[in-house]
Amino acid sequence: MAMDDTSVRSGNLPDESATLALGASMAAVLQAGVVIFLQGDLGAGKTTFTRGLLAGLAYHGKVKSPTYTLVESYPFADFTIHHFDLYRFADPEEWDDAGFRDYFGTDSVCLVEWPDKAQDLLPSADLTLELEVSNTGRTYRLTARTETGQSCLTRLSTPSAAA
Ligand SMILES: Nc1ncnc2c1ncn2[C@@H]1O[C@H](COP(=O)(O)OP(=O)(O)O)[C@@H](O)[C@H]1O
Ligand SMILES: [Mg+2]
Repeated sequence: MAMDDTSVRSGNLPDESATLALGASMAAVLQAGVVIFLQGDLGAGKTTFTRGLLAGLAYHGKVKSPTYTLVESYPFADFTIHHFDLYRFADPEEWDDAGFRDYFGTDSVCLVEWPDKAQDLLPSADLTLELEVSNTGRTYRLTARTETGQSCLTRLSTPSAAA
């Protein structure tokens, strides 16, 4: 797809609540089958974004960081959210053994922290979210990588989109 200025959305997230709000905005435009890669250093806000997204879908339970389990799943009416954290992922064989391939499909939305750790095993992303520490807050950059991702990004409402 052509990369133009509608393929990227960036801005500032001055505090945690802004990261949560961005996640909630994303929740409103999701569709089944979407894959989002969450990129940024430890502490950048990847899990916080996921918490906001889940809260936006009216999930009010605990959101555990899947650092050791590699994935936590949250079933909703239209799709199941699979939240991966591949920071500790090391063994490609484990990917198939655990059946992770089947987690990606038309009945799920997958959020993947540390996608680089399983590069060749992962399907491509519809959207990437890059988070970076900036003073006491964060900056973000959302990029659409597919037509589906573009459709989500076009509908996404972000109050402080200018940056
Ligand atoms: N926009 C923000 N500004 C300041 N702190 C934030 C922001 N977003 C998240 N945080 C904080 O950063 C810390 C780490 O966030 P976390 O989501 O666990 O990072 P990651 O999953 O990327 O390692 C948390 O304490 C969270 O409250
Ligand atoms: Mg995390």
